Amino acid sequence: MAKKTVRDVDVSGKRALVRVDFNVPLDKKGEVADDTRIRAALPTIKYLMEHKARVILMSHLGRPKGAVDERYRMDPVARHLEKLLGAPVRKADDCVGEEVQRAVQELAEGQVLLLENVRFHAGETKNEEGFARRLAELGDIFVNDAFGAAHRAHASTQGVAEFLPAVAGFLMEKEINMLGQVLGSPAKPFVAIIGGAKISDKIGVIDNLLDKVDALLIGGGMANTFLRARGVNVGNSLLEADKVELAGKLMRKAKAGGVELQLPVDAVVAPAASPDAEHKVVGVQEIPPDGMVLDIGPQTVQNFTERIKGAATVVWNGPMGVFEMEPFAGGTLAVAKALAESGAVTVVGGGDSAAAVQKAGVADQITHISTGGGASLEFLEGKELPGVAALQDK
Ligand code: 3PG
Repeated sequence: MAKKTVRDVDVSGKRALVRVDFNVPLDKKGEVADDTRIRAALPTIKYLMEHKARVILMSHLGRPKGAVDERYRMDPVARHLEKLLGAPVRKADDCVGEEVQRAVQELAEGQVLLLENVRFHAGETKNEEGFARRLAELGDIFVNDAFGAAHRAHASTQGVAEFLPAVAGFLMEKEINMLGQVLGSPAKPFVAIIGGAKISDKIGVIDNLLDKVDALLIGGGMANTFLRARGVNVGNSLLEADKVELAGKLMRKAKAGGVELQLPVDAVVAPAASPDAEHKVVGVQEIPPDGMVLDIGPQTVQNFTERIKGAATVVWNGPMGVFEMEPFAGGTLAVAKALAESGAVTVVGGGDSAAAVQKAGVADQITHISTGGGASLEFLEGKELPGVAALQDK
């Protein structure tokens, strides 16, 4: 069921308590290193400003354990947001309490206040009712635009929705629509590419997608476990020995459902996952005993590219290799380019694949790049996210 959004409520003059996911990487100087998530929330923030709401933003940053941790203060985020908005952003030193209430009272229509990291309070991740109430006291309406944190049932993502009219922001709406569309009514052929180091992180996603896709292409470290299940010797590569049986089961499910499941046929191997290690391309049957598979090989790239070319919908989650290291980035970047050139509806989820699409310079040619890591995975698993479930239905 569709969720109400900021368009469905009167925000003028209201105190809009907005949960954003400003959990962004910081550089060594403590400044924002990647502002994708901040930019993604701008449409909602600007809409609220233009429609004369008093905008109170809240987010977590990092994983402080319920106490103040100087490394995770929101100040650099406030400074960065101010630059992006071209308007002042006030910053509170806490997210609840009298001083915060005063700062909220002082907010004029169209002004923005960013609260301190909600995870400085233990009540946040424990989803304590009392803490959720204290947050809720700050607003007249609750807007959740934090898709990236929607899989967390925390006070600022779920608890607060019990006490205020709760609607989605534009980013949340877009994420639900795009991810929902590929799961619900994808144009066919529908191809999924799943990568990343571990099969254990993606079992639910693979299982759910196998009921929906025409083809599933598997790369990254997790492909080794599938290859092993086919009897391939993967040398010294990353392997989840306890998941080999499960990989076999998933392959049987694919076969029974008529899903074409493609594994790598060749790989870039090296004795160690190091950019200086001597590397070479081998067929998967020739992986040396001391070799590690660190990327998919050129023939696999060609196979995957061909399959992506013929698709009408493509979902991609997880890199094809150790793409942070130049010698092993080729497969992942090639997949990013194939998506960009496919003409299909393309949806990319997960921080690594999103970073790869940026690195390949094709981000603007992808239909939707999810701002969610864990959240997009859980969505693709078919789970209902607590932060979404808490919002009012249309
Ligand atoms: C994320 O970065 O995936 C979200 O912000 C959630 O962060 P968390 O895993 O610390 O809850």
